[in-house]
Amino acid sequence: MGSSFGKWEDHISSISSGSVNLIITDPPYQVTPLKWDKRPDWDEFMKQMARVSGDSGQMWIFCRMPWAIDLHLAAVKYGWVFFQERIWQKQNGSGATVKTFRKTHENIWQYKRINSKTFNLEEVREPKTTTGDKSIKPGKGRSDCQYMKKRVGYIDDGFRLPKSVFFCPNLHQSKESLGHSTQKPEAVILPLIKYSSNEGDLVFDPFSGTGTTPSVAKQTGRRWLAIEMVERWHRTSVERVQDAKAITLCENKTNPYLSSHNANCQYSGDRGEKCIFDE
Ligand SMILES: C[S@@+](CC[C@H](N)C(=O)[O-])C[C@H]1O[C@@H](n2cnc3c(N)ncnc32)[C@H](O)[C@@H]1O
Repeated sequence: MGSSFGKWEDHISSISSGSVNLIITDPPYQVTPLKWDKRPDWDEFMKQMARVSGDSGQMWIFCRMPWAIDLHLAAVKYGWVFFQERIWQKQNGSGATVKTFRKTHENIWQYKRINSKTFNLEEVREPKTTTGDKSIKPGKGRSDCQYMKKRVGYIDDGFRLPKSVFFCPNLHQSKESLGHSTQKPEAVILPLIKYSSNEGDLVFDPFSGTGTTPSVAKQTGRRWLAIEMVERWHRTSVERVQDAKAITLCENKTNPYLSSHNANCQYSGDRGEKCIFDE
């Protein structure tokens, strides 16, 4: 467990084959003049990620068209199976442009290995909302899904499966921001970790930046490995992870996006405690 300073290419051989349960990573997109923003060698990357994941790991990777096509072809070559996509919608667009639509989303692709088995959907169900994303009390509103109801005896307890497209503000000037231009919100990473890994599992981020992945991994009782090649961000990441504490129910009063993923926090009733910030 730990954070390493340097390039992932120089550290990867020290990670044992089959030891990693979950990779969550946000690689350079090569869209800025920043020194670190260089396109990875996807072939070598996918080969090594496959090696450390063995036949049961998983990977969530932030990506962007059109280079995601190369990423995907390399992934398939090394036995990664594309599983699903989430679209993170942000409030602000990135990149000033006068000719294209304002880009306000990021793609996050999930790959699995042939024997991946950890898909904790129950852990990440979200409070039910209307189409306009207003919250609804349990038992009110249209039933979640008649098909599910018939098939598995679905009970409307006020929670639904998470949506593939979700909104979460990016971190500009928020308290969570540590100054990295592409730092991801913990609220975006949290459901991915809870869904795709169990407590005690090893979560790995080879492009760790400010350490969002290892920080959330620690907060959720996972082990972690992280690599970052810019010294400033490596130091930030080490300090951040040292300070990270376990997430307790109802703790995230200041971040509704994070707390909305902590299902037990939203309503009293069968699923858990009453949340104090709702009072
Ligand atoms: C998009 S940022 C990740 C930001 C991160 N998700 C966060 O929330 O802070 C990509 C990071 O990868 C680092 N990086 C780029 N190439 C690398 C390499 N070959 N090995 C390790 N880190 C690298 C960059 O310095 C940068 O901080």
